[in-house]
Amino acid sequence: MFVLILLIITRKYCLFKKRLGGGVMNEKDMFESNRAAWNQATEYHQKARGNSLKAGFENPDFTTFDRDCDDVLISKLNQIDFNGRTISQMPCNNGRELLSLMKFGAKEAIGFDISDAAVAEARQLAERAKLNAKFVRTNILEIGEEYNGRFDFIYISEGSLQWFSNLNAYFSVVGRLLKQGGSVLIFEIHPFAYFFETGFDPEKQSLNDFPSYFKKGPFGYKDGLDYVGGVSYEAKECYWFMHTMSDIFTAVLKCDIEITAFDEYNLEMANHLEAEMYSKFPLSYILTGQKKGKVF
Ligand SMILES: C[S@@+](CC[C@H](N)C(=O)[O-])C[C@H]1O[C@@H](n2cnc3c(N)ncnc32)[C@H](O)[C@@H]1O
Repeated sequence: MFVLILLIITRKYCLFKKRLGGGVMNEKDMFESNRAAWNQATEYHQKARGNSLKAGFENPDFTTFDRDCDDVLISKLNQIDFNGRTISQMPCNNGRELLSLMKFGAKEAIGFDISDAAVAEARQLAERAKLNAKFVRTNILEIGEEYNGRFDFIYISEGSLQWFSNLNAYFSVVGRLLKQGGSVLIFEIHPFAYFFETGFDPEKQSLNDFPSYFKKGPFGYKDGLDYVGGVSYEAKECYWFMHTMSDIFTAVLKCDIEITAFDEYNLEMANHLEAEMYSKFPLSYILTGQKKGKVF
């Protein structure tokens, strides 16, 4: 009887910790949950966008770098010589950014993403755009060795790093895939902005309600990922992590990438942070780096 009670209590505790992501949920389950959540979200994104991307990419001048925050990105991209280069984005979602990036002159692009639905859409868009882009469905951490040293340029954009608990593991893949002298550009949501994603409401709460900057997560999220149409739906749970700026710098430097520039902006990227108080914080950043070796 005692053993039975002990077993029940242990099981309840494990389920509780699993729900919280408190070290019991293994990484494989977490990645599969995130894959399912992104497959589901893609359907909502497609509904919200209708035919706009498919029709848009039939026009050779079409780009999705048309948001207010994209001006700073474009000015960085204009300084890079893409001619004849092979580029990548990881993760690439439905490929819209990688295809837009190809218009800067790259000869070939390969995007990687865990979502089956997003990759299927990316392949259709590449066909419409008649661009030499290939898309691979995979967990970034499992990208095969055949891609080692394959890329001159790797692009990482908003909402990418949060899916990885261990940035050293993530950036070791970036370092492995870059050619010597190849470069990386990260245009990401600033860790400060992620604070507000943890449910902080400036109308109702004070700064004392902030989680610690050093709290990593995982944060379980079930409110849906439709940042395109803004529809709430019964969502599959996904798990994400917060990283400090020093986590990001350390992980980049560890994989032999020299940081060539780092700029912080008050530009809102994806979180719809409209309250006046947000103008006081850095909300996005661009970090560029170059893999040590011959100059790109
Ligand atoms: C917010 S998007 C980032 C890309 C782009 N900035 C965008 O907004 O579409 C997040 C993407 O990360 C992908 N993702 C999450 N975890 C991943 C993993 N472990 N490996 C590869 N892709 C992953 C999701 O499928 C999703 O397409």
